[in-house]
Amino acid sequence: MRVVLLGAPGAGKGTHCKRIADRYQVAHLSSGDILRRERAAGSDLGRKAQGYMDAGALVPDDLIVEMMTKAIGQAAGGYVLDGFPRTVNQAEVLDTSLAAQNAATDMVVNLRVSDNVVLERITGRRSCPKCGTVYHVKNMPPKTPGVCDKDGTPLVQRPDDTEEVVRNRLQTYYRQTEPVVDYYKARCTVHDIDADGDADLVAAEIFARLDALARK
Ligand code: AP5
Repeated sequence: MRVVLLGAPGAGKGTHCKRIADRYQVAHLSSGDILRRERAAGSDLGRKAQGYMDAGALVPDDLIVEMMTKAIGQAAGGYVLDGFPRTVNQAEVLDTSLAAQNAATDMVVNLRVSDNVVLERITGRRSCPKCGTVYHVKNMPPKTPGVCDKDGTPLVQRPDDTEEVVRNRLQTYYRQTEPVVDYYKARCTVHDIDADGDADLVAAEIFARLDALARK
């Protein structure tokens, strides 16, 4: 199963990709998470990406394409892509590289969310630096405040989750990533899902589409 999950910052891509990966036993390939790991490791790629991420801009395509092509190549059992592709050029590179292997993306899901919901969600987000589980201080709190339910690790807030940077990330999304939705709509079915509502209801909608795909 090869799935692309699209959506604005805070749409719930990370939250739902993690659930999809668990349910269908595929790799969760998050470009944002990989970049954050590279930064934490102090790698060359991490250092190059840092300034773009902190400003809410996109990291240049050549760096991202190399990083994601490598990750996808290692995901032999299928994957769900979170945060990639994010430009039309990235989508074209992905399609070309799949076509070279006689393969294609099996499903594109687009999470639709309102700007006011984005702001509230992102400023309340906390995540586990060890296992990647995402929480929200109000909407999806951990059982013990500030601590991961799964492994007891103290939760952290991302440095790009301030209101000012979130507004930049939204502008970047509308300018550079929304055209990716149109790119796919011109080529295949895009499953638009209203992601403003309760996370369990959103997950049920996604699973209904993916269960149908898995049965094929
Ligand atoms: P990335 O990490 O991909 O950030 P993003 O796209 O801005 O998305 P987020 O991670 O903020 O949101 P999400 O949709 O995953 O929402 P989440 O599930 O966490 O990218 C970071 C940066 O890396 C970019 O700005 C860029 O610089 C760079 N980058 C990454 N990929 C790139 C690429 N391909 N090309 C170039 N540059 C790239 O949910 C948010 C919060 O809401 C959580 O607290 C969650 O608990 C809560 N929540 C989620 N769903 C619900 C719900 N239904 N109801 C209530 N609460 C909910």
